Amino acid sequence: MMSDVLEDIERTRQEALRAIGAAADAEALERTRIDFLGSKGRLTELTRSLGSLPREERPAAGQAANRAKEEVARAHKAALEALGPARPEAPELDVSLPGRRPAMGHRHLISRTAHEICQIFAKLGLSVVEGPEVETDYYNFEALNFPRDHPSRDMQETLFVGDGLLLRTHTSPVQIRTMEKSGPPVWIVVPGKTYRRDDDITHSPMFNQIEGLVVDKGITMADLKGVLTAFASSFFSADTRIRLRPSFFPFTEPSAEVDIACVLCGGRGCRLCKGSGWLELLGSGMVDPALYGFVGYDPGEVSGFAFGLGVDRAAMLKYGLSSIRHLYEGDLRFSRQF
Ligand code: PHE
Repeated sequence: MMSDVLEDIERTRQEALRAIGAAADAEALERTRIDFLGSKGRLTELTRSLGSLPREERPAAGQAANRAKEEVARAHKAALEALGPARPEAPELDVSLPGRRPAMGHRHLISRTAHEICQIFAKLGLSVVEGPEVETDYYNFEALNFPRDHPSRDMQETLFVGDGLLLRTHTSPVQIRTMEKSGPPVWIVVPGKTYRRDDDITHSPMFNQIEGLVVDKGITMADLKGVLTAFASSFFSADTRIRLRPSFFPFTEPSAEVDIACVLCGGRGCRLCKGSGWLELLGSGMVDPALYGFVGYDPGEVSGFAFGLGVDRAAMLKYGLSSIRHLYEGDLRFSRQF
């Protein structure tokens, strides 16, 4: 019936206007738009249903429906404009809150240990110098008196980077570079990264060494032992004993491996020192006079000692680390402990 339909339209129109009037925010307003004007909205459905009216009733009903829809759309638009432009809520500023502290980093255990070791030698009169990590065969091997067929020159041991260059396998090339540059006396320590084709729980392909070189008038092995004893008691503990064991390096003669009394058992013998009471710490010796030939020093006038110490190893011993990998994995749970 025509009157029923017109009544329906009128009722729905009023409901829509009421809902729009009651909508408190943009969200509620949008809901009323969907409810009445959306593709499944009530006014839309009503208009669609007019198709079932008798033909002669359709124009009047259609006009009424369209008027209602237009009016509701206008009301909706006006209400939306009245709300003003959408604006994100400003966060409340509480000036009494404590500030955010910047995250502070700190030096890595390796850098700290290297620094600490250099400081100890600096107190004994040695100055800190550095050298390149990419080296030539000449400085890394030849001028250090390595014979041509020495096993450490092998591809299996050394990382070659092409063009006759290699990653230095030790900090000893800086001995040659320093003596080449200036005459005696030389009193230096050389911290730096070194590289070998090695990788297990006590060896990393990149590791850190500190070289020591003292060349002066009348330097003897007693000076070597004195300097290293002073180092051990300062770095580990005051009563740390050291011992020198005969060894061999192409660039020192005689050569000595230096051990410290086990940091865990004090020398009685335990798991760490494998029952021996001693831990290997560094390589050392009296500078082989052959080196003076390469740098133009007079072996009749000067003598010297040298040593090379693993920083990673020193840190492992001092702090009881179970694996060298902890030093290189970058795990903050490890780094934060030091
Ligand atoms: N360069 C030697 C090494 O890396 C250590 C060393 C340095 C030995 C100086 C003697 C003198 O094993």
